[in-house]
Amino acid sequence: MNHDNFILCMSDQESDDDRPQLSSDTMNALLEFYKEQDEREQKLQEIQGGCVPDNFDENWNLSQFWYADDTANLLAKECLRVAGDEGAIACISSPTLYKTLHSVEKKCKVHLFEYDTRFAVYKDDFTFYDYKSPLDIPRDFRETFDVIVADPPYLSDECLTKTAVTVKFVAKPNAKIIICTGAVMENLAHRLCGVKKSNFVIRHANQLSNPFVCFANYDIDATCKYS
Ligand SMILES: C[S@@+](CC[C@H](N)C(=O)[O-])C[C@H]1O[C@@H](n2cnc3c(N)ncnc32)[C@H](O)[C@@H]1O
Repeated sequence: MNHDNFILCMSDQESDDDRPQLSSDTMNALLEFYKEQDEREQKLQEIQGGCVPDNFDENWNLSQFWYADDTANLLAKECLRVAGDEGAIACISSPTLYKTLHSVEKKCKVHLFEYDTRFAVYKDDFTFYDYKSPLDIPRDFRETFDVIVADPPYLSDECLTKTAVTVKFVAKPNAKIIICTGAVMENLAHRLCGVKKSNFVIRHANQLSNPFVCFANYDIDATCKYS
């Protein structure tokens, strides 16, 4: 809709006492809403045009809660340490980690499996991924990655179980597995992926009420900690 026309139309209505009128607060809220919508659409067009934005807004409908910078940086450093120059890192439903890894000098490979197609801007490094179809990814990824970090979108048994199917499919034998999720998923995460709770607390850019933990199948505490 052309917002200017809409606003003109509302102004016309203001002169007609018989018609309902918007209060100035409602009108301001409406204008703010349209402004944000325009900004979102413009960003999307830029992304579709191949321009990588500095930031991707969180979409809570997709359960998107981005890592705080210090968490993303420490996790990225840990992945790079473990992968080494020849290794390969899979970021499953963890686009902020991918973005951080993408931004640093490195020799290893990094790949993002993600449902939000805005991240297709990372071209060959991106694979569309829906945890509900955990093996619906190219066969070439079988036993490819040395380090896998997964941050499933929901705190449900179904979501973690299906995500674990993908994790195991893409993991090389003896791969290092890191699962970032709610503390409540501890037992299932251990049963599915052999990971144990670490002391590394996952911090988010916007504080969450559920405690988030980092689970790993090796001793991550020795090398990954806040200063
Ligand atoms: C809790 S967030 C984890 C993001 C992570 N904290 C980060 O900063 O990169 C969950 C992620 O799952 C993705 N997601 C949402 N629906 C999904 C689906 N059906 N399958 C796979 N991933 C999904 C979201 O887009 C989001 O990136």
